[in-house]
Amino acid sequence: MNAVVAWLKDRLPVDVDSLRELTNEPVPHHLKRWWFAIGGTPAYLFVVQVATGILLAVYYESSTRTAYESVRYITEEAAFGWYLRGLHKWGATLMIAAVILHQMRVYFTGAYRKPRELNWMVGMTLLMSTLMLGFTGYSLVYEQLSFWGATVAANLTGSVPVVGGFLREMLLGGESYGRQTLPRFFILHAAVLPVLLILLLGIHIAILRIQGVTDFRFESEKDEEQKPFNFWPDHAYTEIVIGLILMILLSTLATVFPVTMGPKADPLVTPEVIKPEWFFYVAFRWLKLFSGTFAILSTGFIVFVMFAWPFIDAWIRRKTRFTEASVWIGIFAVFSIIGLTVWEALVEH
Ligand code: HEM
Repeated sequence: MNAVVAWLKDRLPVDVDSLRELTNEPVPHHLKRWWFAIGGTPAYLFVVQVATGILLAVYYESSTRTAYESVRYITEEAAFGWYLRGLHKWGATLMIAAVILHQMRVYFTGAYRKPRELNWMVGMTLLMSTLMLGFTGYSLVYEQLSFWGATVAANLTGSVPVVGGFLREMLLGGESYGRQTLPRFFILHAAVLPVLLILLLGIHIAILRIQGVTDFRFESEKDEEQKPFNFWPDHAYTEIVIGLILMILLSTLATVFPVTMGPKADPLVTPEVIKPEWFFYVAFRWLKLFSGTFAILSTGFIVFVMFAWPFIDAWIRRKTRFTEASVWIGIFAVFSIIGLTVWEALVEH
């Protein structure tokens, strides 16, 4: 064994000690609580999505003539196809939920404040990319609902002032949903967005490593209980346990609630009720409440405020006496999001 190590060291003169130091950051004690470390969950689920997605792509065919039939084949005939599709579908659901919970944790603990503003904005881009992955993935199945959902989304994109028409045409690959559309969704879903996510995650983790995670102190804990611990093996162990629990959860969900097939897309028949996936319910309800350009512009404004939040919050804290305004604004935002989502879930139109 030693001879093999020496042989390798001769050829690859890597300084193992500095490598160990680079990957072995002291982790603040509060990360023993899993909700503070929930950022690791979407990262883990992303790996599951890449692995299951590659296997699904073996059978998926991205043309309007064959897409639905290929998904049906995966679901009903390919060996363990139903299981892989179930893992991918539930993995997407849990990943989006985990990103939202992680963002809420960061928000309510004020972990986006100076010097972490940039990482918050990288995080917002990660959120947008994850939602886009969800949208493009859902569209690939070519069911009635996903076809009409994509058509509505493209029309909404088209009503964005100035650039809307161009973006809509880029997304659909033409004036309307046609032969070019599904291949575009597929390239976005299986190549462009995952690569973007990998790059953004690299930047997110690098910034995190440079700055370290925010150190929180808890009054209920004595000083000696607050000592940092090693990333390796202590924190890695926590992540492995979370990973195993997630794997069992995913497997159970994929088996107990298997993914089914809805009716095939029919461009000539508009369904009575058009619904997007649950994570777009809030935006869909908002767009229905204020239809037209106002709905689009206000959505854009809300997303802008979310991006710029660390700077807006710093301004409020500097210029006013409402230093904890972010908590109340956050509670209001969470209740509004839950309220609009439940509303959209309960009504047909
Ligand atoms: C795919 C999505 C994402 C992944 C995989 C991810 C991963 C992580 C990880 C592993 C951490 C270390 C601490 C923890 O586990 O909570 C972290 C911290 C952080 N994340 Fe994310 N993140 C994602 C999305 C986001 C989003 C949407 C935001 C906010 C808009 C965000 C903002 C931050 C900030 C500011 C920190 C530093 C927190 C601190 O210092 O305590 N991240 N992220």
